[in-house]
Amino acid sequence: MADERFAITRCTAEDFYQILETREEFWDGRDMRHLFHPFLLHQFGNSAFVIRDGGQVVAYLFGLLSQTEPVAYAHAIAVRPSARRHKLGQKLYEHFTAFAGTHGCTHIKAITSPDNLRSIAFHRSIGMGLLGEPNADGIPVVRGYARRDVDHVVFCKAL
Ligand SMILES: CC(C)(COP(=O)(O)OP(=O)(O)OC[C@H]1O[C@@H](n2cnc3c(N)ncnc32)[C@H](O)[C@@H]1OP(=O)(O)O)[C@@H](O)C(=O)NCCC(=O)NCCS
Repeated sequence: MADERFAITRCTAEDFYQILETREEFWDGRDMRHLFHPFLLHQFGNSAFVIRDGGQVVAYLFGLLSQTEPVAYAHAIAVRPSARRHKLGQKLYEHFTAFAGTHGCTHIKAITSPDNLRSIAFHRSIGMGLLGEPNADGIPVVRGYARRDVDHVVFCKAL
């Protein structure tokens, strides 16, 4: 993949529709429609980033800057399967991290489920630590972070 084809740009309304309409491809068949509230585009659009290959969005990161702590939160990141392992995910994180730094954030956070081993490997590779205590599989998790009595992986990195 030639790097110059994969510039990071802000998510447009057209990109957002396309991401929604093809969301299952990005998530290996899982329907993650609950992730895509329109506030990501209209109220938090300056931290909604995409990478396109021609007219097609091949990767995206929807980020948010916390109003209660100096934390940047990576709400959703995904790369089409055909474009994976070309460092697009890493590139998006670097871009969001730089954005967060210029806005005074001291940490970046994200969450995933303990069975998303790919996401865990990816986030570890970009230097994110895992908060909490090890579960039965040895993966640090935080119980009750997102739902009562349910474990989630909570990633955190100091900027
Ligand atoms: C997780 C995801 C965003 C990674 O995107 P990506 O562009 O393929 O990742 P990168 O190419 O930047 O990978 C950087 C490093 O992360 C690690 N990594 C990424 N995918 C991995 C995998 N499937 N298995 C093991 N390690 C992996 C590797 O160390 C990789 O470096 P390497 O390719 O030189 O070995 C992508 O797999 C995806 O969209 N998954 C489905 C959606 C999802 O689960 N999102 C995360 C939700 S929290």
